[in-house]
Amino acid sequence: MKKILHMSDLHIGYKNFSETFHEIVIKLIGGVIGNPSDFIVIITGDLVENANNSESYNQIKDEFNYLKDAGYESILVIPGNHDYGTGSFGDKKFVNLFKQNFFNENRKYPIINVIDNIAFIGLDSMAAELHWYDRLWAEGELGSEQLNRLNNRLRKDNIQSCKKRVIYLHHHPFDRKPLHQLKDSNKLCEILESAINDSISIDAILYGHNHEGKSNNGYWGIQRCYDAGSINLKPRSKLKNELPWFDKVKNSTRVIDLENTPDTDYKLNFHGN
Ligand SMILES: [Fe+2]
Repeated sequence: MKKILHMSDLHIGYKNFSETFHEIVIKLIGGVIGNPSDFIVIITGDLVENANNSESYNQIKDEFNYLKDAGYESILVIPGNHDYGTGSFGDKKFVNLFKQNFFNENRKYPIINVIDNIAFIGLDSMAAELHWYDRLWAEGELGSEQLNRLNNRLRKDNIQSCKKRVIYLHHHPFDRKPLHQLKDSNKLCEILESAINDSISIDAILYGHNHEGKSNNGYWGIQRCYDAGSINLKPRSKLKNELPWFDKVKNSTRVIDLENTPDTDYKLNFHGN
């Protein structure tokens, strides 16, 4: 079974991040984690710093092409708040633009890919987050339509029959800090716990957004609950950095082997941190 390379919050377009990410891509192409064809890459949002800068989308697609040419055939992405605007101000026009750029078709979320007997289920946690009143905070919301589709899809034969199932989204499902947990986290929990009770295992839930790189393994009965942090170590606003309940920004890019126990998963250090 292929392993997962989980990274998040690239923020291409911020300062020199297109260069620093290109250096990481060169290391990955050079085989720093092994044979590229043994991996499926998952990126849990905030690919770019500002979606209004179309050059950033092009830069990230160039990097994906380098990775694909080197053998990383499957690169799965979902949008974060910065992929739909500035991070604070999301715009509905980016919903389709993101799909056109990264899926080449107008698929509805959840985006499902079955690869090597693993069902990868990507959620858009910006889907119900694009109203004017959502602009003050950025907790993310999946919305009832997407959650209903998720519930139905989990019970389809082609998903149930997979050996493993991996959920990935941008926003944090478990963060108890004020205004930092996915708004409809409780509903997502109900759907996933109900599936698990029906013997449909959820083997991992992967996310980003907070740049803290914490894991919450075991939540909701899910063995692997991983925040990948920010691969480029994008700093938070000065105010948040000064608040005691925020952890430091971390890169927690991980290699995940679903055929082994979570203690065999490991983080990749690209920055000497
Ligand atoms: Fe981010």
